Amino acid sequence: MPEPPVMSRLEVLRDPAVMQTRALAWRRAGRRIGLVPTMGYLHPGHISLVRLAREQADVVVVSIFVNPTQFGPREDFATYPRDFARDLELLGAEGAITVFAPEAAAVYAPDASVQVCEERLASCLCGATRPGHFRGVLTVCAKLFHLALPDVAAFGRKDAQQLRLIEQMVRDLNFPLAILPGPIVREPDGLAMSSRNVRLPAAHRAQATCLHRALRTIEQAAARGERRTAALEALLRATIATAPDARLEYAELRDWHTLAPAPAQWHAPTLAALAVHFGDVRLIDNTLLTAS
Ligand code: PAJ
Repeated sequence: MPEPPVMSRLEVLRDPAVMQTRALAWRRAGRRIGLVPTMGYLHPGHISLVRLAREQADVVVVSIFVNPTQFGPREDFATYPRDFARDLELLGAEGAITVFAPEAAAVYAPDASVQVCEERLASCLCGATRPGHFRGVLTVCAKLFHLALPDVAAFGRKDAQQLRLIEQMVRDLNFPLAILPGPIVREPDGLAMSSRNVRLPAAHRAQATCLHRALRTIEQAAARGERRTAALEALLRATIATAPDARLEYAELRDWHTLAPAPAQWHAPTLAALAVHFGDVRLIDNTLLTAS
């Protein structure tokens, strides 16, 4: 028998109830389920997570859902890039995948009133300027975990605070699954891949490499033995300042576990995290400092 055309190995489910019934059947049949939650407009960063999940699962579910509850009223929900046909094409090259792509109305009951709220790890970094963002992320991920019933779920280190919060939720609420963290996938010039990069005009796209350069600079300083948190944060700010159109939101070193500000002398593992705006496009990037 010839191999079926690759696209035919994609199954698209729209209905949350059907997703859950399918997942229950897989579970009963003893199949390990791997979930990759995404908001679509897929790029190689997402695909790396699909491959990571595949290594540890028999069945891979990729959710594609631009989750309205994690966007603030002045944020880019309406302009967030979407291209479902292209997403399916990219996933078609990855073998058998179940794509779960529900409508918002099927995900959220109009009178929904229960949410997952975390108030310590979520209050700093991105949470400081995006109130309610992580409540939206945690709530939708909790729902996806209940619908797709994964044994493993893959999340990128690109969104480091999100990853840390998901790990905390899984532990604190006893979700029976393991989180697989995936490395940051970058463009050849170092810019971390992001669905939002397409919204950068050429002049800003060229300057956007400053985030990666700033992180490389402090990784090198740390490797040379620079222990002073303030010195590394100053290096981050100085590198971002070399990009004329960059508006810095934060450049901070924080303890990876507590996300509290790093002490005067940082110690591993410390998260160095950046958020930078170019016009109305907000970029984030980070590195985990492990050398001490
Ligand atoms: P989205 O931005 O689509 O990202 C989906 C997953 O891909 C996240 O785990 C994110 O960290 C990972 N990712 C994005 N860019 C990456 C890169 N350059 N390298 C490695 N991984 C990368 O994050 C979300 O969607 C949403 O908040 C979601 C978790 C789906 C909840 O709505």
